[in-house]
Amino acid sequence: MKASELSKISLGLIGGTGALNLFSPKASFVVTTDWGDPSSALTEVSVGRADASMSAWMIQRHGNPHRIPPHRVNYRANIDALKQAGVQQIISINAVGGIDPNFAPGDLVLVDQLIDYTWGRAHTFSDDVSHTLEHVEFGNPYEGRTFEQLKVAAKSAGVAVHVGGCYGATQGPRLETAAEIKRMAHDGCDVVGMTGMPEAGLAREAGLDYASICIIANPAAGLEAEPIRLEELHAVLDRSMGKVAHWLSHFQVASPGA
Ligand code: HPA
Repeated sequence: MKASELSKISLGLIGGTGALNLFSPKASFVVTTDWGDPSSALTEVSVGRADASMSAWMIQRHGNPHRIPPHRVNYRANIDALKQAGVQQIISINAVGGIDPNFAPGDLVLVDQLIDYTWGRAHTFSDDVSHTLEHVEFGNPYEGRTFEQLKVAAKSAGVAVHVGGCYGATQGPRLETAAEIKRMAHDGCDVVGMTGMPEAGLAREAGLDYASICIIANPAAGLEAEPIRLEELHAVLDRSMGKVAHWLSHFQVASPGA
């Protein structure tokens, strides 16, 4: 079915590595878009507390099961599917490596800037003559009400969050070299991940308010004597998802006119 046929829900979630079991789906729909198929079915999940439950449309960025590498994610279809399903604000959940020495594995970061090192990805909706050419403003890629509401929710949930930080988006799927991380630190990056772009840019093009919750899964390459161990990285993500769920359970969409 077309994503536009789904019932309209204003909150969207894009789950990254480790987020497959973050919420249990109430309903699940296989949809398509003019940009192709999204990474997974759209599932309706319940985000709020039992007394103030809130629905969201959720997509698993890497598919379910997890199989789509970062450079093969159809970011345009994912964003368009959420938009067609009525979504106005997106919370993206991203596993990242920590570059800032203050960020430890398991920490949560609400990033406020990004640098895009990816290449060759279908990164814009302004891609042919049938779509208007737009040069969207992107000076503050994560600014907006979702970012602000997440800050409020963290406080109300009592979840410790680092507010602010620069996301460096790399191509993957390999991890970075120590020299690449050194360069990224020099550039001003605080965390490194493989999927932050073009997702954030496409959300801006689509007119959707977008914020990213980053979970520090490991110290980035070269910052520790030991190489990054994937089992360790996944164990950290498993342990941290409860904190993310608790944080989101306090997320409240502002009432109209507020
Ligand atoms: N680099 C890139 N992406 C990641 C990392 C990393 O160290 N950890 C989790 N996602």
